Amino acid sequence: VAKLTFPGGTAEFPILPSVDGASSIDISTLTKQTGFTTLDYGFVNTSATRSSITYIDGDKGILRYRGYPIDQIAENSTYLETAWLLIYGELPTPTELAEFDDRIRHHTLLHEDLKSFFDALPHDAHPMSVLSAGISALSTYYQDSLDPRNPEHVEISTIRLLAKLPVMAAYAHKKSLGQAFLYPDNSLSFIDNFLRLNFGTMAEPYVINPVLSKALERLLILHEDHEQNASTSTVRLVGSTEANMFASISAGINALYGPLHGGANEAVLTMLAQIRDSGEGVEKFVERVKNKEAGVRLMGFGHRVYKNYDPRAKLVKEAADEVLAALGVQDDLLDIAKELEAIALADEYFISRRLYPNVDFYTGVIYKAMGFPTRMFTVLFAIGRLPGWIAHWREMQTDPATKIGRPQQLYLGSPEREFPA
Ligand code: MLT
Repeated sequence: VAKLTFPGGTAEFPILPSVDGASSIDISTLTKQTGFTTLDYGFVNTSATRSSITYIDGDKGILRYRGYPIDQIAENSTYLETAWLLIYGELPTPTELAEFDDRIRHHTLLHEDLKSFFDALPHDAHPMSVLSAGISALSTYYQDSLDPRNPEHVEISTIRLLAKLPVMAAYAHKKSLGQAFLYPDNSLSFIDNFLRLNFGTMAEPYVINPVLSKALERLLILHEDHEQNASTSTVRLVGSTEANMFASISAGINALYGPLHGGANEAVLTMLAQIRDSGEGVEKFVERVKNKEAGVRLMGFGHRVYKNYDPRAKLVKEAADEVLAALGVQDDLLDIAKELEAIALADEYFISRRLYPNVDFYTGVIYKAMGFPTRMFTVLFAIGRLPGWIAHWREMQTDPATKIGRPQQLYLGSPEREFPA
């Protein structure tokens, strides 16, 4: 037991031996006894949540899903296999995976009435707004399976979300183009079905491009989870109130929407286009960033957790080269991105601040080469992140230690005063 003297008195708190032989203090006892608290904007300390899904070592640039390194998963796995791994904790057997895939294929159809729902939204709506509204609406169609404490309800909601969210995403895309929606073709794989819904037309059969399918699958896998990021924390916070899975995931989509989170890949492409259109060159832009000129922001660089190269960014950069070469696309924005990275990584300003490109830096260039409009980029991130959100929601619901979330507040306002008579 250790004794602490502080302005309000003294407190005793236990010293705990830890596994590696060192000792640590029991912060929760300390906080309860003394009322001391740390002002931690945005939960900088991620250990405020316990989880067994994803491991990140920001200093070393390591990312693992359920213990498996992200590069090995991206190379050898599929989106659905990775989804299973994140949600259920182990890699599926071939039979488990086939059954999972089959169940998802059987749930891709949307209720016909949802078509009128999409029709009612303005044609120029951002696809993220359309997606979050659509996912939220699912709880109006499946009222008989919304109980977070009922394992069967949780299971069917999991399948419905994995099956229907990509279809809604493609409808949001088609709507923005003023084109007719296609029905899913469930003889196709998950990824090819999604690509056909986006790029197929009523008039002609859709031709599968295996390079595109492989690249999209890889990008989605890289986005499947990232521990306590803003949208996942939102899903957990909303889910901690025992709100149903559709309501919680819709909240996560809204958190992902912003340019500081999922919207960053859209913002990167806008920035690269501005550099190109200004004609001033990358070096000049970097100077303006360093001088903190008003309105000049470097997007797609730096990460709250990674103080090293984001392991996902490395893989996305490789994919960018492969995809553009295979599709026979030349993009001056990719050249600008590479030049920007090379200049920044050789500059003391960026080195001392440990500012490296993050996962959003190259994804937009690839999505653009695939034919997706800029406003779909964040939607693609949402499809990627869906299995992670589901896994965290389910983990939180089954953890006996879960309580309704309630961030601690440090009151900084006026002291007590009399209301004027
Ligand atoms: C993510 O993948 O969610 C982003 O890198 C943001 C984060 O992890 O905080």
